[in-house]
Amino acid sequence: MENFTFHNPTRIHFGRGQIAQLSSELSADSRILLLAGGGSIRTNGVYSQVKASLGAHPTFELWGVEANPDYDTLMKAVDLCRRERVNLILAVGGGSVLDGAKFVAAAVPFKGEPWDILAKNAPVESALPIGAVLTLPATGSEANGAAVISRRAIGEKLAFLSPHIFPRFSIIDPETTFSLPARQVGNGIGDAFTHVMEQYLTYPVNAEVQDRFAESILRILVEVGPKTLATPTDYDLRANLCWAATWALNTAIGMGVPQDWASHVIGHEITALHGMDHARTLAIVLPSLMNVQQQAKRQKILQYGARVWGITEGSEQARVDATIAKTRGFYESIGLKTRLSDYGIDVAVAANVANRLAARGVTKIGERGDITPETVEKILRQAA
Ligand code: NZQ
Ligand code: ZN
Repeated sequence: MENFTFHNPTRIHFGRGQIAQLSSELSADSRILLLAGGGSIRTNGVYSQVKASLGAHPTFELWGVEANPDYDTLMKAVDLCRRERVNLILAVGGGSVLDGAKFVAAAVPFKGEPWDILAKNAPVESALPIGAVLTLPATGSEANGAAVISRRAIGEKLAFLSPHIFPRFSIIDPETTFSLPARQVGNGIGDAFTHVMEQYLTYPVNAEVQDRFAESILRILVEVGPKTLATPTDYDLRANLCWAATWALNTAIGMGVPQDWASHVIGHEITALHGMDHARTLAIVLPSLMNVQQQAKRQKILQYGARVWGITEGSEQARVDATIAKTRGFYESIGLKTRLSDYGIDVAVAANVANRLAARGVTKIGERGDITPETVEKILRQAA
């Protein structure tokens, strides 16, 4: 196991009715920006619960944060925060609203062009405090220090990390997710599943806690995922999905282990080019990446196949192939197609993505840094 320092500062209020806890998170001088998406929180009653809990605190609102939150929209929120001396950003919605809040929180005190935070990895030295009411189990953004921002005007989608953007608190009431369409539930299951794989399916470093924990989360997602899709208002199923998705990317299972993240890097390019849902890009990339990288990942693929899918019989190669097939089948079973052609995307995207990454100097990704633009092209060609 590699050395690590683990610190997750996010306080989580989990369960039915927990939006009421919001008031306990505010101080007398809180000036709040409520950041929201396209309106789902109005129709499912979350907004009225939040408003009731905010009481008389000065609250400004910015609606319209897109799925794959857009830089230009978020810069309006940055202006508002500066103008109104906002001192708490409250994200109410899914991962996109949360990521948007993180960017705004970092951009408000940032000296210089905020796009540099994403495009040039400009250091984030401080950020406004962030709180969240999460309505979509998927990204883990409610308990991590990552955000992914799109800029449609120039066709980019980029991520940044900072310890300053962990939410101070997050509220997760599984009942608020009952209103999700099946497509978004499937996306959430697939995204969480892939987050575990990015931190687990690398090479062994004798990290038993992280491995067994990762395998448990994967098994829970495999078991609970299809059930919660079939019975979307079963509280216990949904609660287990929500908590599994948080643990998939609250940084705990990634401590002291090598991490991959190539599927995400490649997937973000597909979203930037084709506007595709984040999780769908992952379902296209990961099975193909497992196939192309099967030598480098062999030991972990065999371990994952045995412990998550019970694949223990046959030659090593047969087990690897069966494990990749199971993974592909899982995505398909939760409604995520795994081929570019399923989404009407031409295989020309393979060279396009490879060239974009090369132009940005992203030439060595994956846990061993051995995924070059040529490998990226191969992975996407095999996903045609
Ligand atoms: O905009 P509204 O009206 O709220 O509708 C949203 C949106 O259309 C809707 N929705 C959310 N909660 C709902 C609901 N509809 C009904 N009932 C509810 N309870 O769902 C749609 C999708 O929402 P979005 O926030 O975009 O989805 P998700 O949570 O999957 O977030 C995706 C974004 O997160 C990034 C992705 O790249 C993408 O931009 N990620 C962030 C990560 C992180 N910060 O750690 C890690 C992930 O790998 C991911 O990259
Ligand atoms: Zn993801």
